[in-house]
Amino acid sequence: MIVIVSSEKGGTGKTTISTNLTIMRAQKGVDVFLIDADSQRSAIDFSAVREQEGHQPSFCCAGISGPGTYDEIRKMSQKFDDTVVDVGGRDTLTLRKALLAADIVVVPFIPSQLDVWGLDRMNEIIGEAKSVNENLRAISVMNKVDSNPKIILGDEALVIAKDLKNIEFSGLTLGYRVSYRRSIAEGMAVTELSKSKKDEKATAEMISLYHEVFRDA
Ligand SMILES: Nc1ncnc2c1ncn2[C@@H]1O[C@H](COP(=O)(O)OP(=O)(O)O)[C@@H](O)[C@H]1O
Ligand SMILES: [Mg+2]
Repeated sequence: MIVIVSSEKGGTGKTTISTNLTIMRAQKGVDVFLIDADSQRSAIDFSAVREQEGHQPSFCCAGISGPGTYDEIRKMSQKFDDTVVDVGGRDTLTLRKALLAADIVVVPFIPSQLDVWGLDRMNEIIGEAKSVNENLRAISVMNKVDSNPKIILGDEALVIAKDLKNIEFSGLTLGYRVSYRRSIAEGMAVTELSKSKKDEKATAEMISLYHEVFRDA
């Protein structure tokens, strides 16, 4: 299975989600490959930290971009059970090529007006990809959701996310939690934090996202 995690905007949680999904998949004994197709190369940096820290399970990670993206993803993914691709949306050629190779694309967005505009453009790009890659599944997840119910920005973003023609809102949200930042800095998935740092809410919501993406799990 080839999973793309992408959004037009930076900071929406692409690298957080793609690295967490990769590790959780590897924990199931699946041979999973993480491709960093974002010019920021954060997934590669994260993988280097994980390796330095010696956390297990380990996984392969490589960077790709540009016109060869489709062929490279297809070729490289054949050697693995599953492939997760972290794609920054601004390089639309890489994104468009990656979408043609994918089984599912996960689109994180944060509850802000600027992000919602980005979601509209992702909807268009994914619509075009679906006209060629007919079995592509596209889901969105709202990230960095404030726990304060008085903040209604999330509600407005949700209305728009639920209305998109080509991206289905998964119904899933990830809260704004320091444990996501802490785990990334340590080269870990949020589910791997040690007992004293464990965040049950973050763990539960990331597991829900995992099950939504890898439905067989
Ligand atoms: N749910 C969250 N709660 C708190 N911080 C988060 C959350 N998701 C991501 N972050 C932090 O926000 C920043 C951007 O996230 P990142 O995954 O790198 O986004 P992207 O890859 O889309 O640019 C990082 O510092 C990350 O640790
Ligand atoms: Mg990133």
